[in-house]
Amino acid sequence: MIVGAQWGDEGKGKIVDLLAQSSDLVCRYQGGPNAGHTIVVDGETYKIRQVPSGIIAGKRSAIGAGCVVDPAVLIAEIDDLEARGLTTEGLVFVSGNAHLIMPWHVALDGARERRLGRLQIGTTRRGIGPAYADKATRIGIRVQDLLDAKILRQKLELAVAEKNVWLERVYGLDSFDAEEVLEAYLGHAERMRPWVWDTSLLVDRALRGGERVLFEGAQATLLDLDHGTYPFVTSSSPIAAGAAVSFGIGPNRIDEVVGVAKAYVTRVGEGPFPSEIDGPAQDRVRELGREFGTVTGRHRRCGWLDLVALRFAVRVNGMTSLALTKLDVLSEFPELPVCVRYVLPDGSETEDFPAHQSDFHHCRPVFELLPGWESQIGSDGLPAAARGYVSFVEDALDVPVTLVGTGASREHVLALR
Ligand code: IMP
Repeated sequence: MIVGAQWGDEGKGKIVDLLAQSSDLVCRYQGGPNAGHTIVVDGETYKIRQVPSGIIAGKRSAIGAGCVVDPAVLIAEIDDLEARGLTTEGLVFVSGNAHLIMPWHVALDGARERRLGRLQIGTTRRGIGPAYADKATRIGIRVQDLLDAKILRQKLELAVAEKNVWLERVYGLDSFDAEEVLEAYLGHAERMRPWVWDTSLLVDRALRGGERVLFEGAQATLLDLDHGTYPFVTSSSPIAAGAAVSFGIGPNRIDEVVGVAKAYVTRVGEGPFPSEIDGPAQDRVRELGREFGTVTGRHRRCGWLDLVALRFAVRVNGMTSLALTKLDVLSEFPELPVCVRYVLPDGSETEDFPAHQSDFHHCRPVFELLPGWESQIGSDGLPAAARGYVSFVEDALDVPVTLVGTGASREHVLALR
């Protein structure tokens, strides 16, 4: 299993792509088109949002029940991959229990954010929160509903009637025409029909058959609905346990959890961020790391590596190893601050992530300065100071760093063990 250890954008797509080479089935377990995975293969850049990254490696790829699916986005991505010469035939599987993102979810996501103004969450405005909310209130429409036009019509008419009241009366927006939406989704249904599958059975059979299954998280630990920095989180469960829930398998079927963390930290959207860099170094890291959102194009906020938050990620995911990405971005800095503790508002210091939001919102980072390496990282191993940086992380977290990212493409990964 591969899980984001920070606030997302850690470069999971690249690590999934790499490990997918030796996997048989790749499973995406939560989120929807809010994810943005960038994968570079043979100089070709793929930016995907909805399909599992495994598809780029030509592997069977499944979308679990815990995901939300925007059919138009999914179909467009598959078409785009096919147009660029990749084969997806027979490789795409979507759980019938996954929920559909409907056009009103997207409209409501944007409207709610605008209404929140200064207090907005900074969502990707892809309809994620409203779709998961409808799932939880049990008025959502699922992928399997696409397979029965009568059921789809019934559920859709019910939903439209309610959503139109919200859109018109609460937000002063245009309403949706049920017939128009139905027609569009029946069109999507024709394309998606061959992809709809019992993905729990799919994984179970693969595991029983001795195949290798790779689970791919989208978003990340600190964006987890239960364990992240609520309310500045996404509406699903990116932490490792989310995979077992989404795919309907026992947690004991998961052997290894690889956390993916950048060698520094980024965050898109609002919310507290203790190790956020002060001054021009933040712009420099953003520039060197090309830290602009895949989905929304927004600037990512940049911070120095935060070992307090990473220690928390190791704990809540049961991480067995860590992949440290984008180490090359730090190559030009003579000194590298690493956050080792927080000072809480009452003056006490902690190495453990604060359980109370007010402590986290008002804590101050304590940085230790590590020597930089001030040279490029090649394919023949790490400079001594870079090795020191990695060892420092391993010692602080008590987790081995097994992979280090040194550039954008598939080849730019050093296996340390
Ligand atoms: P939502 O998932 O669109 O509802 O957005 C909720 C929060 O999660 C916002 O802070 C987003 O910026 C953040 N978020 C969602 N997806 C990603 C991602 O793939 N990378 C980084 N942040 C994300």
